[in-house]
Amino acid sequence: MSLIETIKTKAKKDVKRIVLPEGEEPRTIAAAKIIRDEGLAVPVLLGDPARIDAEGIEIINPETSDKAAGYANELYELRKAKGVTPEDAAKLVKDPMYYGIMMVKLGDADGLVSGAVHTTGDMLRPALQIIKTKPGMKVVSSSFLMDCPNKSLGENGLLVYADCVVMPNPTAEELAHIAVSAAETARALCDIEEPRVALLSFSTKGSAKHELVSKVQQATEIAHQIAPSLLLDGELQLDAALVPEIAASKAKGSPVEGRANVLIFPDLQAGNIGYKITQRIAGADCFAVLQGLAKPCNDLSRGCSVDDIVNTVAMTAVQAQ
Ligand SMILES: CC(C)(COP(=O)(O)OP(=O)(O)OC[C@H]1O[C@@H](n2cnc3c(N)ncnc32)[C@H](O)[C@@H]1OP(=O)(O)O)[C@@H](O)C(=O)NCCC(=O)NCCS
Repeated sequence: MSLIETIKTKAKKDVKRIVLPEGEEPRTIAAAKIIRDEGLAVPVLLGDPARIDAEGIEIINPETSDKAAGYANELYELRKAKGVTPEDAAKLVKDPMYYGIMMVKLGDADGLVSGAVHTTGDMLRPALQIIKTKPGMKVVSSSFLMDCPNKSLGENGLLVYADCVVMPNPTAEELAHIAVSAAETARALCDIEEPRVALLSFSTKGSAKHELVSKVQQATEIAHQIAPSLLLDGELQLDAALVPEIAASKAKGSPVEGRANVLIFPDLQAGNIGYKITQRIAGADCFAVLQGLAKPCNDLSRGCSVDDIVNTVAMTAVQAQ
């Protein structure tokens, strides 16, 4: 079974309610019908019912919803210290993105998927401001689940890459939290029982000296402190992370032993370029999720297909379980 089929099977076992703020958007409406028909989640579309043809699917209009006043109150309480006034809050909850985030915050939905129309920043900012991080987690970041044709790599061809979307230039401490979050994502979504995490660099175990290398070394130490039982090593070059023979010569005694299944990139440029190289040159299928949020919210690419929306809803539903 492919990774996404496994995730869909899991989603159906404990069906969650997922809100789609871009409810008037045609790909989103088509996806909601598939999600409902396949039993992957209970989709809720936000928007004007007059503009949505989706019989049998719940539609909520934030402009007229009788819950909007309550959500506005809560939003005001949450953000008043940041200068949000009651009038601002009342206006914000009419925006489907904020309305959807408030539904998730207050438990009226289990998760949210958006981004077919909005940019990553438009979707992320309200999630960061309102949903916030999980207890004990410093940052929200992302993982890409990479399903590679070469089954000798990672976990039978599966690799988790982080962070490829959110944090442009993480500090050593933030990088450590990204590593621990990515290991959790590997367990929850990929059924990887033993994540083996490599913090990547252009240096292996001190082979080069540079402040960029020092940052990855520090991040490795901090990650060891946060999650002492996690199999994790750094700093490693990609080949020392993935090829046992090279690990044996360049990183003797590495707990990852050249069999990493979770790869942590030192910054967003490396991570974003790295996943696209794997996708385009190695032909991997890839699926993105946000991690570290107190409740699951996920972003789509504006070029997404109906299938991409269906898949992201299934992943969000599994994260919510
Ligand atoms: C994530 C991102 C949208 C944050 O936007 P921003 O305008 O810099 O946000 P701010 O710094 O004003 O922070 C907004 C809030 O989110 C919080 N926040 C920001 N980044 C965070 C993170 N990674 N984890 C947790 N909280 C975070 C801030 O603490 C702040 O909270 P507060 O308002 O309660 O104090 C921004 O880092 C970004 O654009 N990242 C790149 C995304 C991107 O374009 N990716 C392209 C690849 S697809």
